[in-house]
Amino acid sequence: MIRGIILAGGSGQRLDPLTRITNKHLLPVYDRPMIYFAVEQMVLAGIDRIMIVTGGNHAGEFLRLLGNGRAFGLRHLDYAYQERAGGIAEALGLAEHFADGGPVAVLLADNIFERSVAPIVDRFRARPVGARIVLAEVEHPEAYGVPEFEGDRLVRIVEKPSRPASRYAVTGLYLYDARVFDLARGLVPSARGELEITDVNNHYLALGQLSHEVAEGYWADCGESLDALFRAGQLVATRGANRTVEPPAR
Ligand code: G1P
Repeated sequence: MIRGIILAGGSGQRLDPLTRITNKHLLPVYDRPMIYFAVEQMVLAGIDRIMIVTGGNHAGEFLRLLGNGRAFGLRHLDYAYQERAGGIAEALGLAEHFADGGPVAVLLADNIFERSVAPIVDRFRARPVGARIVLAEVEHPEAYGVPEFEGDRLVRIVEKPSRPASRYAVTGLYLYDARVFDLARGLVPSARGELEITDVNNHYLALGQLSHEVAEGYWADCGESLDALFRAGQLVATRGANRTVEPPAR
């Protein structure tokens, strides 16, 4: 059984001043708090054991907002508190006991996908070994983890490269087997002082155990900038989000 880990920590500095008095993932995106999209994605993918990892001064608000997940048809949600902002890979470590030795779907709570990711999760479920990442074509890859290809073969991922080697971003949906926690433990902090998820993915790549696919529909990283947050709201309003079916013709 795959368990879901939603990462909702971080300082949200790129959205200052909106994030001075709240956590980024509680901000509205069109008609919902940002984190709703991530919880809904997990539920649509058939994942009903979900842990929210957050931190900072507003962690309690997640409990007030999401409670036990009843609004999403859940009976229970797990929570973990990240005591310092040390990067995605560090936050992941807090969910190790929750994963209980099984595979995990990790989703950054500022990522919104037009389509339900259920088919992607199902493909990993069919063979839950190694890691699977999801790519999206973007206009400014330099803001993200960027895959580099030789022919069709993904050869490395570079975090926020000044000269991106492709037009793709690595999105914040990651599927891992239980080895991810050992790999994360072996990491050293990057130049920005964080344990980078990109390093985890490059480890799997070196083991020959990283697969990838390209997301259908739009992908939005709401935390990238104020403009990105604004655009995400417009996309959600006009095209919906987490869709399992085509929108009605207009
Ligand atoms: C993180 C990852 C990056 C990924 C992005 C997707 O970036 O480090 O590889 O492309 O999420 O949202 P961050 O938001 O921490 O800058």
